[in-house]
Amino acid sequence: MSNKNTVANVNSRRFREVMGLFATGVTVVTSDLEDETHGMTANAITSLSLDPLLVLVCVQKDAMMASILQKAKGFAINILNEDQEQLSNFFAGIWPEGADPPPFSFEPWVGGGRLRDSIGALACKIDKFLDGGDHWIITGLVVDLYRQNSPTDPLIYYTGRYRRLNRLP
Ligand SMILES: Cc1cc2nc3c(=O)[nH]c(=O)nc-3n(C[C@H](O)[C@H](O)[C@H](O)COP(=O)(O)O)c2cc1C
Repeated sequence: MSNKNTVANVNSRRFREVMGLFATGVTVVTSDLEDETHGMTANAITSLSLDPLLVLVCVQKDAMMASILQKAKGFAINILNEDQEQLSNFFAGIWPEGADPPPFSFEPWVGGGRLRDSIGALACKIDKFLDGGDHWIITGLVVDLYRQNSPTDPLIYYTGRYRRLNRLP
């Protein structure tokens, strides 16, 4: 295929359609600033390095979370369980105006609050902000870890929709 054809096939809609085939879990990234915890739903999360222990999260430059992280010292990544779809929508700003938020609470932690009932979580110290187009690529040095005893199944995001793992009978 020529370069020209490849380029003609490339646009943001098709990019989303193709990337949507890459199934991910769903997290809520939290960061504490001035005694308040801000949360944002994110699936652009990657385990980056084992030595040192690093993760990365990609945050839209125009998200409120981006300006909070620029001032904060750290953040936490909370991995959602399969019943936390409403929380994912709430922290993505997909929530009817004026409606009560879904029930949730944060436990105080390093960097950002730890969302109760998440199946796993990482507390991170902010390492670097790297330019990634309309997102910041933010790397975090892992300073604490949480794993639920006998974790329940994760919430999955695939083709722009939430899914559940297909359990074996
Ligand atoms: C499943 C899902 C995954 C998302 N992943 C990301 C992500 O990785 N990075 C990001 O910047 N926004 C992501 N978003 C969008 C943000 O959650 C959304 O823009 C949010 O309103 C930003 O919040 P804030 O401006 O209050 O910080 C995702 C949304 C959904 C529903």
